[in-house]
Amino acid sequence: MATQTSQDVIDLRSDTVTTPTPGMRTAMARAEVGDDVYAEDPGCRGLEERVADLLGKEAALFTVTGTMANLLAVRSLVRPGEEVLCESRAHIARAELGAHAAIFGITTRTWSHPRGLLDLGAVQTLLAPKAGPYFVSTAGVSVENTHNFGGGSIQPLDPLRKLRDITRSAGVGVHLDGARLWNASVATGTPLGEYAALADVVSVCLSKGLGAPVGSLVAGTTDQIAEARVWRKRLGGGWRQAGVLAAAGSYALDHHVERLTEDHAHARALAETLADARRGLVDLADVETNIVVLDIAGLGLAAGDVALQARAEGVLVSVLGPSTIRLVTHLDVDADACKRAGDVLARILAE
Ligand SMILES: Cc1ncc(COP(=O)(O)O)c(C=O)c1O
Repeated sequence: MATQTSQDVIDLRSDTVTTPTPGMRTAMARAEVGDDVYAEDPGCRGLEERVADLLGKEAALFTVTGTMANLLAVRSLVRPGEEVLCESRAHIARAELGAHAAIFGITTRTWSHPRGLLDLGAVQTLLAPKAGPYFVSTAGVSVENTHNFGGGSIQPLDPLRKLRDITRSAGVGVHLDGARLWNASVATGTPLGEYAALADVVSVCLSKGLGAPVGSLVAGTTDQIAEARVWRKRLGGGWRQAGVLAAAGSYALDHHVERLTEDHAHARALAETLADARRGLVDLADVETNIVVLDIAGLGLAAGDVALQARAEGVLVSVLGPSTIRLVTHLDVDADACKRAGDVLARILAE
C-alpha cells in the first residue's frame, strides 16, 4: 500500500477542518483591533452588526464556538429547571456534551426524524408550557437548519411557519441552530432573514462551510444579546483583540457564501458515485447540501472498519454510528479530490 502524505489526504470528516485561505490570512493580519471586553474592537462590532442585519435581528454577539452560541441562545429562552424540545440527533442534544444541562440546568425532550426534520405533530404532543408544579415546563423549541447528523437536510419553510404560530400562542420561544444556515439559504434561495424571522434567537457559524478558523454568532433582541454578553464573559468567553478572528469571519462572508453551491455539487457527485456502486447506500433525494450520510447496514461491514480502510487509502470520513458514515464536502476539497474519494469509498463498499 502506498504511504500517504498529508498532501494526499482527502479529509471529508467535517467542514470544520478547513484552514484559512491566503486571502483570509491577509485580512486577519491587517485587522484593526481593540479590546472586545471593553466593546472596543471595531472588527467584532462590525461583524456583529453585519450578521444581525443579515438575520434581521436587533443585535448579535460573536462567540468562540457554535456550542457557546447555542448555549447562550437557548439560555436566553429557557431558565434552569425548564426544558427545550429538539430532534433526537440535534447538535444541542448529542454533541454539546450535556452543556445545556451541566451549565444551565436545562433539560431536553426530543422527537425523532430520520433526516432530523421538524415533526410538528410530535412537538404538539411534547409541548408543555407552564406545566405546573409536577412536570417540567417547556420554554423553547430548537430546530437545526441544515441538520448535521440528519445529512445536511434543509428544514422546509412551511412547518417552520406553523411552528412559529404554535409556539407563539403557547408562549414558548424558538431557537434556530443555524450553524449551516448559509447552506440552506444558498441551496433554496431563501434569504437568511426569512429563516431567522421564524425564530426568536439564532446561532450561526463562520467556522463550518464558510471556512473561518474560529467563530460563531448568536443573534436576537438587544436585551437577549446584552444578557448573552454577560453569560459569555461568565463562561470565560470574553476575548480581547478578537478582531483578528472577526476579520476572518468578515472575509468568509464576503468570499465564501455563494461558493457553497460548489460544495453542494461535490456532495451530490460523491453521492451519485456511491449510489451507483451499491444500491441502498444513499438516497440521492436526501443529499440537499454538503453532507452525505451513508447507511451501510446490511453490507456486513462495520462503519469503523470502513473508516479505517478508507484512512489507509488517504480518505478520512466520520463514523456516526455502527453502520452510519458521514462525508462532508468543503472549501478544501475540490471536484477532483471528491472524485478520488468517491472512487476509493465505492471500491471499499462494493467489495
Ligand atoms: C449544527 C451544529 N451546531 C453547532 C455546532 C457547534 O459548533 P462548534 O464545533 O463550533 O462548537 C456544530 C458543529 O459542528 C453543528 O454541526
